[in-house]
This record gives sequence, C-alpha cells and structure tokens, in this order.
Amino acid sequence: MSLEEARSHHLGDAVADSRVLVTTGAGGVGKTTSAAALGYAGARAGRRTLVLTIDPARRLAQALGIEHLDDEPARVPVTAPDGGELWAMMLDMQTTFDRLIDRHATSPANARAIKANRIYRTLASTLSGTQEYMAMERLHELHDTGEWDLLVIDTPPTRSALDFLDAPKRMTSFLEGRLLTLLLKPGMIAGRGLGRVVGAGATAFMRVAGKVTGMELLEDLADFFRNFEGMYDGFKQRAEEVLVLLQDPRSRFVVVTTPEPPPLREARFFLQRLEQEGLHAAGVVVNRIHPLPPPEPGDDVLRAAAAAGGDDDLARGVTGTLAVLADVRNLAERQRRDVNAALFGVRVHTVVEVPLLGQDVHDAAGLESIATTLTTRTA
Ligand SMILES: Nc1ncnc2c1ncn2[C@@H]1O[C@H](COP(=O)(O)OP(=O)(O)OP(=O)(O)O)[C@@H](O)[C@H]1O
Ligand SMILES: [Mg+2]
Repeated sequence: MSLEEARSHHLGDAVADSRVLVTTGAGGVGKTTSAAALGYAGARAGRRTLVLTIDPARRLAQALGIEHLDDEPARVPVTAPDGGELWAMMLDMQTTFDRLIDRHATSPANARAIKANRIYRTLASTLSGTQEYMAMERLHELHDTGEWDLLVIDTPPTRSALDFLDAPKRMTSFLEGRLLTLLLKPGMIAGRGLGRVVGAGATAFMRVAGKVTGMELLEDLADFFRNFEGMYDGFKQRAEEVLVLLQDPRSRFVVVTTPEPPPLREARFFLQRLEQEGLHAAGVVVNRIHPLPPPEPGDDVLRAAAAAGGDDDLARGVTGTLAVLADVRNLAERQRRDVNAALFGVRVHTVVEVPLLGQDVHDAAGLESIATTLTTRTA
C-alpha cells in the first residue's frame, strides 16, 4: 500500500475492532497523550475501554479530570453511547510484581518470604526491562478478567521503543536460572541482549551490597534463590502467554512519532521489528506536525495585492503575510518529506497526522479533539 493510501485511513476501525492497542514510540513523542485520546475514542465508539497508563509525571490524571490514578481502574466522565465507558489506571510496578509472586509462589509463606526479601525489593524496581514487562503482565491480567472491550496500554519512557519488544524475552532469560551467575559474575557473560541485564543486575547487586553487609547479604541472597526455586517455570510460561496475547490479530500497536528524524527512525525500526515478530501495527501517528497551510495564492490574488499597492502599508502587509505563509509551507512540506522518507518501503496501513497544538494537552477537551483527529478521515 502506498503512503498516500495509508494517509487516507484513520484509526477508527482499529478503535472499533481491537481488543488491545499499545501505544509505543520514542521518548516524549506523545504516547501517553495518544493512549488517552484512543481511550476517549473507544468509549465514544460504544466500547467499555480501559486506559492503562505509565505516566510518572501524573500529567494524565490531571488531563483526564480525575484527582489521581492508582493501581485500580477509575471511571472517567465522558459522553458516550450505551456501553461506552472510559476508565483509567496507572501501572504500579511493585504491586504487579508482588501479585505475580503471589500467583507463582509455592505457598503463601513462600510468597511472603520473597516479598520481604531485600534482594527482591531492589531487583523489582531496578532490573532493566522490568517496567515494560510488568506493563505487559498487567495487560494480561486485565485481559483475562474479560471485563473490557478495549484495553489501551501506554508504554514507559524507554530509551528505545525497541526495549519494549525485548522485555518478555529478557524477562524469560533472567528467570531461566541465570540470575545468580549474572549477579555474581557480571563480567563473565557476554552476548547479545544480555548486556543490559548484566549491567542492571550488577548495579542492583551493588546497591543492595551498599545497604546491607556481610552475612545479612549472603543470607538474603541464599533465601532469595531458595524461595524462587520451582517458580521459574511458572514465570516463563506466563511470559510466553503474554507474547501470545500480543501476537493476537486483535492486539495492535500504534506507533507514535513526531516529524523529526530521530523519532521517525525509531518508528521505522519499530514497524520493521513488528513485522519480523509477527505482531500487528494499527498505524502510525505523526504527532505535533505543522498543518499544511492553504495553497499559494493564485495570480488573481497577487494581482489584487499589486493593485492595492497604492497603499504602502497594505502592500507591505500582504507581502509580509505571503512570506510567512511560504515559510510555514516550507516547514510543513519538509516535515512530510521526512515522514515519507522514514516510512519508505515499510508496510504501513494507516498514517494519521495530529497537528501541533498551541499548548500542552492538559484537559478532556484537548484529548477529545485529538480523539476526533485520530478517528476521522483527513486526506
Ligand atoms: N499534538 C500536541 N500538541 C501539543 N502538545 C502536545 C501534543 N501531543 C502531546 N503534547 C504534549 O507533549 C508532552 C509529551 O507528551 P506525552 O507525555 O504524551 O509523551 P510521551 O511519549 O508519553 O512521553 P514519555 O516518553 O516521557 O512517556 C505533553 O506535555 C503533552 O501535553
Ligand atoms: Mg508517557
């Protein structure tokens, strides 16, 4: 499909038909904003929609008009047809990780011991990829409840959007029993993908080592591994189930980018990765793009401007305005050329442009207007 065709589509169908939508993209491009706007769109399409957000700055709770967001879904007031509801919640990593332990532990006492362990508490928050994985884990839990027509999930501000796709695999290899080796011999293990885990594992280890000393540390460490014994298989199976859910044809990724080359490059890599992994892209949101100004004025307008030339002020005003218009047009066209170049040769069904608004998106009205843009044919 050509890019021109992709521009004639919008995300309305994806909103109406998906079970899961995951917004992803480089840092700061508008993932959280897009996830919230897609949530509004879902409710307006008559679907019981839950937005699971990861927004440490908590801007989103404010924009949604609710006091605060926590680990339980909160209802967001929205005008929607029958059945259409919007709910939102914030991912709490530690709670999610704790529940995972509860599910897989061999006994309640075993779960309690793990959760009280200092090694566990430090690892849970510092291990590379944990946040991404916990987001997926929570998604799986919520999907299992069968209570939601549409789950929209925001992804964390990772250094690279690709980290996110690697998270379940990284989690699996972490749990394959190599943890001890990773912690104790960080320099010994080389190899693709593991580098980051090794680094983060070692850092976490050093941090724990800084807090507790000698025997205490060794005891905690020994306990940690004793308690984890027998849980690896459950964890691993769960990570695999998460991947299966993501590969479902009704789970789709919305790749968010701005029109600048670095996030565009990430969007391109990400779309290619999705294809390789057999995952589904709903489309690309090009956020904060300059709208195309109206076409250059025709000769008749220019003639009229020249005829008005008797009045110097007016002539200068018209010439000045035309020059500004030409500048804006230059920038807007340049952005579209960059988008086209970045997406060249990549299979993409939908490209939606969201204009740069005059201010941050900080209220329901702003989110609703973005929801309309995302689900309306523009080209
Ligand atoms: N179309 C837009 N016009 C103007 N401001 C926007 C637009 N979209 C998003 N913003 C603003 O840009 C900022 C970043 O947006 P957002 O938090 O959604 O990005 P993000 O990709 O989730 O960031 P992070 O990677 O840090 O999680 C916010 O202040 C938001 O209000
Ligand atoms: Mg965000």
